Amino acid sequence: MGNLLSGKKIVIMGVANKRSIAWGCAKVMTEQGAEVIYTYQNERLKKSVSRLVKNGNHLIECDVSSDESITTAFNEIKQRFGQVDGLVHAIAYAKKDELEGSILNSSREGYALAQDVSAYSLLAVAKAATDLQLLKDPASIVTLTYFGSERAIPNYNVMGVAKAALEANVRYLARDLGESHVRVNAISAGAVKTLAVTGINDHNELLKMSRDRTVDGQDVTIDEIGGTCAFLMSDLATGVTGDVIYVDKGVHLI
Ligand SMILES: NC(=O)c1ccc[n+]([C@@H]2O[C@H](COP(=O)([O-])OP(=O)(O)OC[C@H]3O[C@@H](n4cnc5c(N)ncnc54)[C@H](O)[C@@H]3O)[C@@H](O)[C@H]2O)c1
Repeated sequence: MGNLLSGKKIVIMGVANKRSIAWGCAKVMTEQGAEVIYTYQNERLKKSVSRLVKNGNHLIECDVSSDESITTAFNEIKQRFGQVDGLVHAIAYAKKDELEGSILNSSREGYALAQDVSAYSLLAVAKAATDLQLLKDPASIVTLTYFGSERAIPNYNVMGVAKAALEANVRYLARDLGESHVRVNAISAGAVKTLAVTGINDHNELLKMSRDRTVDGQDVTIDEIGGTCAFLMSDLATGVTGDVIYVDKGVHLI
């Protein structure tokens, strides 16, 4: 238990279950004194998140593919908790058949869906939070990206392109929210076996390839990713914005 984030309220979007990277972030930030507010995608996900989060008041539905859902959720958050100090966006989606084989087989619709949920949604939540004056001064927004934005990772395809767009969104948002002292950064996490990863064809091979390239042969953990997220949410990180920080045990080096 520490007090790096004591007195801070942080919204976390994207906990599906105890393996989720967002859950790693939530655990560490709670340990550091933050009050965490959770958004979940739909009723089905609510069931599984409720097993982890007992206080129902801290659970709010938000489907980022709908502007209406985002506005309703953020209004609800403001009503229940007032302004918040930070927002973690740990959300991505692509159809399973887009995550296999050649990128030449990407469909127009599948490409657009991956971009909408995985990249545009960061702009949509930042805009809603700004319009509703949900964020304090200063505040921090963190999103989750992957090395497939820079390198052609087998089967990652449209999601790699969406992550490249997401990282560009981070830089443009950091510029445009800078005056309001809202920092925007991404964590480029190493491969972790989560629900999202199991949608990628041959994901066991991807996980093995990643493990083989870590500096110590061990996977990064969701707690380690959560540690960097806690730092980025804290006042220790007021000088960091528009950046992508690797938390991948050195996979990007090797
Ligand atoms: N697992 C990895 O290896 C890895 C590595 C780097 C980055 N990431 C990124 O981390 C983030 C979290 O993924 P994860 O691996 O923890 O998997 P996860 O399946 O636990 O989380 C993905 C979350 O996205 C949510 N989501 C999908 N569509 C949504 C929508 N329309 N509205 C609201 N929520 C929606 C799901 O409900 C789920 O909670 C993603 O952006 C992912 O790309 C994952």
